[in-house]
Amino acid sequence: MSKDFTQMEDSNLSSNPSIHNISSPERRMFLGTAGALALSTLLPACAQTSTLTPVAQATTLSFKPIPIGTTDKMVVPEGYRAHALAPWGEPVGIAGNMPAFKMDGSNSAADQAVQMGMHHDGLHYYSLDGSKRGLLVMNHEYVDDGLLHVGGMKDWSAEKVRKSQAAHGISVIEVRDDGKDWSMVRPSRYARRITANTPFSIGGPCRGHAMMRTAADPRGETILGTINNCASGRTPWGTYLSGEENFRFYFGNFDAKDQHQQRWGLVKESFFGWEQHDSRFDISKNPNEPNRFGWVVEVDPMDPTSTPIKRTALGRAAHEGAWVAVTKSGKAVVYSGEDARNEYIYKFVSRDAIKPAGNGLTQAQANRELLDNGTLYVAKFNADGKGTWLPMVHGQAGLTAANGFADQGEVCIKARQASDLLGATKMDRPEWLAIDPKSGWVYCTLTNNSARGATGQPAVDAANPRANNAHGHIIRWKEAGDFDNANFEWNHLLLAGDPAAARAEAKGNIKGDLFGCADGIMFDPAGRLWIQTDMHASQMYKGEFANLGNNQMLAYDAATGQCKRFFTGPTNSEVTGGTWTPDGKTLFLNIQHPGETAGDRSDPAEPTKFSNWPDYTQGGRPRSSTVVVRKIDGGVIGT
Ligand code: FEO
Ligand code: CA
Ligand code: CA
Ligand code: CA
Repeated sequence: MSKDFTQMEDSNLSSNPSIHNISSPERRMFLGTAGALALSTLLPACAQTSTLTPVAQATTLSFKPIPIGTTDKMVVPEGYRAHALAPWGEPVGIAGNMPAFKMDGSNSAADQAVQMGMHHDGLHYYSLDGSKRGLLVMNHEYVDDGLLHVGGMKDWSAEKVRKSQAAHGISVIEVRDDGKDWSMVRPSRYARRITANTPFSIGGPCRGHAMMRTAADPRGETILGTINNCASGRTPWGTYLSGEENFRFYFGNFDAKDQHQQRWGLVKESFFGWEQHDSRFDISKNPNEPNRFGWVVEVDPMDPTSTPIKRTALGRAAHEGAWVAVTKSGKAVVYSGEDARNEYIYKFVSRDAIKPAGNGLTQAQANRELLDNGTLYVAKFNADGKGTWLPMVHGQAGLTAANGFADQGEVCIKARQASDLLGATKMDRPEWLAIDPKSGWVYCTLTNNSARGATGQPAVDAANPRANNAHGHIIRWKEAGDFDNANFEWNHLLLAGDPAAARAEAKGNIKGDLFGCADGIMFDPAGRLWIQTDMHASQMYKGEFANLGNNQMLAYDAATGQCKRFFTGPTNSEVTGGTWTPDGKTLFLNIQHPGETAGDRSDPAEPTKFSNWPDYTQGGRPRSSTVVVRKIDGGVIGT
């Protein structure tokens, strides 16, 4: 079985990656200005980087930027150091159940269920003792079955499916700085794995809904597992929000005549092969099971006995993640995008204000139902630099039974169809969002959309201004008044890509260090903006991507408008998940899929051709890992 679902959203990607043709940074910088000028004549005025309110940023960015990455190593600026902290397969630290990782892939499914999952992604730090001890909570987006098992997908079996399911989900680990450096605390009473088989409760309007009921769950109240969890958000009340992104690739045997299944991109043969040994993922046997995925899920990491919850009021989507702002009246506003071509950006405004801790409840416990009641909106970006949040309320604006929406639950389950009907703006794959705590501007990375402008596809528009948008862009908006307002102004922070690219629409307008395909975006504790990239292995090192190197993390210097390259990852990895200790002196990030291949993901030999990071053992398997980045002098990251 040859498969690589990460390419499916961008089907023009070529195969057979080869590492060659990396031009020098000097050449890249020489060509930069001319390319940027050419682009400015190409785009409509509203698509250019605006001079509206800049990022609020109080603190300097004085580190010395680094060149593009070209090796199977992490690279950080002078005066910095980085090391892998928690790779795939390490036991998370559950007392009495800490099986050691086996580099040959021979750990069992039961072992994997108490070890770090694969493909680390969204990541947040939760303090237990300030900046010295805390929890790291992270997603495990998907798996490379070739690396996960002895023999890869050969002799595909129920045990291999169970192991694949166990390597998905979320990990909670405890970490401590002993004065020299960070390490995992094991055992820890907080250590936890949530997998594709962990029971979740259903919150919000879809709880008990007819479309959520299955033979195994006739009441529609409990779902087993979470899958393809990508980015994440940390709530002000102390919980972790995680997005279930490309859930469609886990289900097989769809009904080609079912319009709902069609709209959600379900397919005949899944990409992960679970339906062959677990009928839950066989749509012909369990047609409602896909409706139970695509949600934002909430986890209380401080309470390892708590049941995680699927928050259906926030709408169903291929959610990248979810990020919370707070209104002046204390309501939670949750922003979320759908990382899929031509899909949408959402916001949810809670009905109630965030409650304080008290009466014997932690703040997380006091707000256990906060995200179950409120109003969901979808974004419409107008050509004049203004925009509107369209309410997704049953009975309004055509969201009626006559149009296929029996109730609010069905509006949420069929959020794509509802957004289509409302005429929301189809975006170029919304990934992470970041809310500037000082200015209130909200940033969203739009990673790419090579189909934009093609026959039968949405045309370019003001918000998505480039056809065959291979490099993506970053959009931002500011609500009129408070975060719950229905109107906003918007502009582009930048258009990514190499100004030296031959194709006009591949030329970006980045000032400073170049990148393509932004994915992660986040503010650090001092209010500096950071950007991470996720170019696919099949794109890197050639053509329009030749001058961009390995995936990376950059700081956006609001004082100068320049991007400054801070970190580059090992070969064919993605850099994702950035979180800081409160003192800003430790950055934790995730390296995902080192050695990613554009070839056969089910072949154990494929990724090892490109990477054996971080262990560098002969023939060793590359392992996604959480990484610690610090300044050697103990200073604040970015200075
Ligand atoms: Fe999993 Fe949208 O990146
Ligand atoms: Ca992502
Ligand atoms: Ca991505
Ligand atoms: Ca990824």
